[in-house]
Amino acid sequence: MRNLDSGFQLSEAQIKKFQTDGYVKLPKFLSADTVDMLLRRTDAEMSKSLDSFTSQFNRLKYDFESDKADIYELIQTETFQQVMTALTNRNLFMTFELCFELKSGVSKGFPWHVGVQSFGYQRAEEFGCTIWAPLHPIRTDGQRGGMAYVPDRVLSGRFVYDQIESAIISTLEEQHRRGEETSLNKYLMMRSGILNSPAMRQILETHCEEDEFDPGDVLVFNKYVVHRSVKLEEGELDRRAAFVMRFVEEGSRYDRRRAEELEFPTIRYGQRPFTRAHMEIDLPDGGVLSDSEYFDSTAKRMISKA
Ligand SMILES: [Fe+2]
Repeated sequence: MRNLDSGFQLSEAQIKKFQTDGYVKLPKFLSADTVDMLLRRTDAEMSKSLDSFTSQFNRLKYDFESDKADIYELIQTETFQQVMTALTNRNLFMTFELCFELKSGVSKGFPWHVGVQSFGYQRAEEFGCTIWAPLHPIRTDGQRGGMAYVPDRVLSGRFVYDQIESAIISTLEEQHRRGEETSLNKYLMMRSGILNSPAMRQILETHCEEDEFDPGDVLVFNKYVVHRSVKLEEGELDRRAAFVMRFVEEGSRYDRRRAEELEFPTIRYGQRPFTRAHMEIDLPDGGVLSDSEYFDSTAKRMISKA
């Protein structure tokens, strides 16, 4: 009989770590059967992945197509519900699943960033968080291939959600009006340049943490935590897959203006979007995200205090 409930027990120290730094590693949060299920799920989705990110990832997939019964079963287990509500001190709603795969010696992953694509349709001040579950072992003194993250008390990425995303677009619009040349590349360089400038890199590289992971261990981090991928070096492991789930606080609302801003590179420069979920949610501004017809089985996506 398959067991998706790990029986994991959350400690006070782990809750404190999440409160002070915005993230925490939870060892053995997922059962062995859950890891098997997620690996199968991730492989099925990645076989349908786009090829447009091969410079960063071997494969990556937003907008999972597989039936979600297994995921609903996982997030409805007693342990999952108890741990996530106790850790974040609120009820949550699961929005998306994603997966990323690094190829050894090749994929560098994403540089310093925050999850503006996955949380950019949500009010900037409302709570959102991610569970990141690597499905292959990560050794910081070996092949690496994990993630680096910076406590949000040192530097919070909130200003990227609050201001930078909009300011980049208004800057490019104004430059366009003045007859200056703008391009997709310029947009992408500005977008990644904020958190990857020489000064910012010094701050982030000096303060970052990088953990070891075994399959079943997860990192939970809030949407303001600035993080980056760590390259998977050459070695025994050919690839490192990771499964990701996004959550927003219960009752969290749609931010129509910011959702539309995520369309800017597609409308202005014809960039092929790798997800259109932010538009497909399609609510009036301020609409409750869980009310969108985009999300099926809304009751099964809820994480609630007992
Ligand atoms: Fe990320």
